[in-house]
Amino acid sequence: MTSLTIPPLKDDLIRVLIDADTIQRKVSELARQITEDYKDVDKLVVVGVLKGSFIFAADLCRQLGVDHSVDFIALSSYGSTARTTGNVRLIMDVRENLAGKHVLIVEDILDSGHTLDYLKRNFKTRKPASLKTIALLNKQDRREVDVTLDYMGFDIPDVWVVGYGLDYAERYRTLPYIAEMKPVG
Ligand code: IMP
Ligand code: MG
Repeated sequence: MTSLTIPPLKDDLIRVLIDADTIQRKVSELARQITEDYKDVDKLVVVGVLKGSFIFAADLCRQLGVDHSVDFIALSSYGSTARTTGNVRLIMDVRENLAGKHVLIVEDILDSGHTLDYLKRNFKTRKPASLKTIALLNKQDRREVDVTLDYMGFDIPDVWVVGYGLDYAERYRTLPYIAEMKPVG
């Protein structure tokens, strides 16, 4: 269902890369797949990576047909400079003890791969029963670390995108679509 009031593109946004309906269809498809894959598991722990995944995680969870809890983790981000350093820092940990649990990490976008690589290695030390990863978006061309995704929404080119949780300097997170930004600097 498309919202009746779709915010118009601002000056520094070039085009809509993925519209709201296309995102929602993909989220439903991913939720169906995850529900099927975890049908024999009695409980799943969904861990959203803040802040970028908050909308994706919320939409995805509400379509899961498997019993689950929701938790969040926050890691250091690019800030407003749109550049990766490879230095990932844990800012806020999950509340839940992950030992023996089936854990699904929900990311907004996989770019260099440093964030997810750090998170997977960190979570593995907590001895979960299983650990899988999902990202809505994937910039394959930007990968610096070899990290695999179990579920993925869309492959996108190497451009800066905003909307549906993703930001540029904390702006545009609540756009219902994914838009490409004008290159900055
Ligand atoms: P990685 O560690 O380089 O894979 O970076 C992943 C994180 O960088 C994502 O979770 C996003 O928060 C952020 N990021 C990477 N590319 C974009 C983008 O195009 N728009 C907004 N955030 C991005
Ligand atoms: Mg993120």
